[in-house]
Amino acid sequence: MTQAREAILLVGGKGTRLRPLTVHTPKPMVPAAGVPFLTHQLARARAAGVEHVVLATSYLAEVFEPYFGDGSKLGLHIEYVTELEPLGTGGAIRNVASRLGSGADEPVLVFNGDILTGLDIQALVATHTASGADVSLHLTRVEDPRAFGLVPTDGTGRVTAFLEKPETPEQIVTDQINAGAYIFRRSVIDTIPVGRPVSVERETFPGLLASGAHLQGMVDSTYWLDLGTPRAFVRGSADLVLGRAPSPAVPGRCGEQLVLPTASVAADAKLTGGTVVGEGARIGAGARITGSAVLAGAVIEPGAVITDSLVGAGARIGSRTVVDDAVVGDGARVGADNELRGGMRVWCGTVLPDAAVRFSSDA
Ligand code: GTP
Repeated sequence: MTQAREAILLVGGKGTRLRPLTVHTPKPMVPAAGVPFLTHQLARARAAGVEHVVLATSYLAEVFEPYFGDGSKLGLHIEYVTELEPLGTGGAIRNVASRLGSGADEPVLVFNGDILTGLDIQALVATHTASGADVSLHLTRVEDPRAFGLVPTDGTGRVTAFLEKPETPEQIVTDQINAGAYIFRRSVIDTIPVGRPVSVERETFPGLLASGAHLQGMVDSTYWLDLGTPRAFVRGSADLVLGRAPSPAVPGRCGEQLVLPTASVAADAKLTGGTVVGEGARIGAGARITGSAVLAGAVIEPGAVITDSLVGAGARIGSRTVVDDAVVGDGARVGADNELRGGMRVWCGTVLPDAAVRFSSDA
């Protein structure tokens, strides 16, 4: 069996609702390269042979279903399951087990909703099948593993431990971390306890290891980005537009810019670095936009300079205003001659008058 026909996509949790990028829209639905972020992962799963996806969420299921419906537009059959209380990653997986039609030994893809990756899903299934593992994990290598749980493997790729975040240099025994995509043997899902929160990383995987189960790691050093921060989200969108992060769902050709239908861009405006301009947005004369996402209906007035930033739906950026590494929420109005930098977030609907904030000196 070299294909997983079914997948569970995890898009819930406690923090997700509290950390929306543009307030009105939960993160998985914020457009990245022109379409809600989740679309990229769903399209990649489809391209790898997945037919049926169960979307496991603990909040706001009502925003997913109206957009993705039964999944047929993506060639998928999508079902939605909402937890009453967040069940954790393992609990969420167990909670949707009854929706799966796969046989006991068949592979089921499970993936985190907040990761953008070029993982070769079929290679992970092939590794899983060839090794006879109970669960196989996509592992990625990071330069600084201190912020992550570590997953060392032996010479054959078999996982030997799940280690909490290292606190001393001696504890950094590997640079491999859990990249948030797994193949479960279907029957293993049924062994997760029902009806209470369970963490796969802290409970399920260590428990399986302790009981002698075979957990296989596959290091795939392809594109991988955790979209946990607004900055990372903007980076991910730009990388999708540039084609660095591969996705069949990018609505257009990859390159320096992606301008969606009905957007208008002044002839001398300059869009580079994977900038996306959403439907109905307007970019004024002489504006320079690099590596940024300008969402639907936003207006960038002449001479504004936007870099590595997100401008929310219907927001307006005044003339000559500089926005660098910042997020401007939906419907906010930033007047002319402002300077927003350094991770600043302007809340949805906020109005900033002309020349209200700046970073550089007054000279
Ligand atoms: P635990 O392993 O359960 O402790 O979660 P975590 O906090 O380590 O997970 P993380 O925040 O890394 O989330 C991984 C993915 O699982 C993300 O896509 C989350 O949206 C999703 N997720 C986390 N917790 C839950 C949950 O309680 N329910 C559901 N449906 N998804 C979750």
